[in-house]
Amino acid sequence: MPAIAIIGGQWGDEGKGKVVDLVAEQADVVVRFSGGDNAGHTVINKHGKFALHLVPSGIFSPRAVSIIANGVAINPELLLQEIDMLKSRGIDVSVSRLFISDRAHVIMPYHLILDELEEGLRGAGAIGTTKKGIGPVFADKIARQGIRIGDIVDRKNLMEQLRNILHQKNLVLTRVFEAQPLSLVKIYEDYVEYGKKLKPYVCDTTVMLEKALNEGKVVMLEGAQGTMLDPDFGTYPYATSSSPLAGGACVGAGISPTKITRILGVFKAYCTRVGGGPFPTELKDEIGDRIRERAQEFGTTTGRPRRCGWFDAVAARFSHRVNGYTGMAVTRFDILDVMPTVKICTAYRIGSKTITDFPASLATLEHCKPVYEELPGWQTDTSGVRAFKDLPAAARKYIRRLEELVGCPANLICVGPERSQTIVKSAVI
Ligand code: IMP
Repeated sequence: MPAIAIIGGQWGDEGKGKVVDLVAEQADVVVRFSGGDNAGHTVINKHGKFALHLVPSGIFSPRAVSIIANGVAINPELLLQEIDMLKSRGIDVSVSRLFISDRAHVIMPYHLILDELEEGLRGAGAIGTTKKGIGPVFADKIARQGIRIGDIVDRKNLMEQLRNILHQKNLVLTRVFEAQPLSLVKIYEDYVEYGKKLKPYVCDTTVMLEKALNEGKVVMLEGAQGTMLDPDFGTYPYATSSSPLAGGACVGAGISPTKITRILGVFKAYCTRVGGGPFPTELKDEIGDRIRERAQEFGTTTGRPRRCGWFDAVAARFSHRVNGYTGMAVTRFDILDVMPTVKICTAYRIGSKTITDFPASLATLEHCKPVYEELPGWQTDTSGVRAFKDLPAAARKYIRRLEELVGCPANLICVGPERSQTIVKSAVI
């Protein structure tokens, strides 16, 4: 049976939480493989409304076990709070249902402080990070000075590791930023406590995944953020610090690329972006405001208003190129129900040139003007539609055009936040 990856196709916030929750019904194992608590996955189901930041959305499926894999950066304090919150709302988060990789890196107090201070130093060029310590923790991982979950659980070398790292961090904090140094003893004691509490959940999750795949179980890889925030292929440096791509799923979970047989790209029927950076189809007008208000486009993690714009098929085709989607889920389709006309960006114009490939250069991107194709709106409430054939003709035409432009079929169309408000146009698995 397949491993299926659910990947954010745009700039994050595509509605992956709902799609994962839906597909998780067919999964035996659900795995978070990248990012950290910068992600905010909203799930609405029979248990209520939840905003999950670290625990995989599969936790709601009685048949699935959930894994936070090696590619995730974990804030242990927040993870423990999230586990407590879920338990208090009647969700089973016992140690036979949630597993945490001993290789996952840990977000430390200095990562949070440095994220804030480094953003401040960037001034007008600020990335607009979520200030969850993501850049600093992944920088330390690559610089080989990170602390992993296994380190805080077995604690053998923790004091020595922490002493060496904190010496350097305190030099940066005090001499570069003129901030207060952090206490070694306090951090050590706090993280030993977190380690004790998390220990029952911690294991080598690659062993579990190999076994599950060999037994023919369905493994679902739950993406965080979106392709256009990838450090290689996103709008660098306005990007996050771990790979949200299907390729990132293999590394972030520790499974072979040959095991992934389905890759579902999740796209909103329009586009949003939160934080700084280029966004060619951004609408800084009343249409953008209308989308934001209608869709309540405010960040799950930070509450910031999201920038809104028309569907960008240039970016989406690029997203397909670097992920190889077998299909897509088009979410928030009902938001466009009120529009008299809808637009899709099919190319960019830079001066007298027209391009159809998403450029790498920030300077080029900033000069890109979208070339739009305008289609008639359907001006019909689609929130109650459950079959593709029952959508208005103009709505079907819009979906078909997205399929042509992106280059893969739409498996799912979401017409509202509830699990049931979904059109299955073709099977995902
Ligand atoms: P960081 O991941 O907190 O370092 O933020 C880097 C960039 O990615 C910023 O523009 C954030 O707004 C954006 N970002 C990070 N996580 C998410 C997400 O889950 N949804 C949307 N944008 C995100």
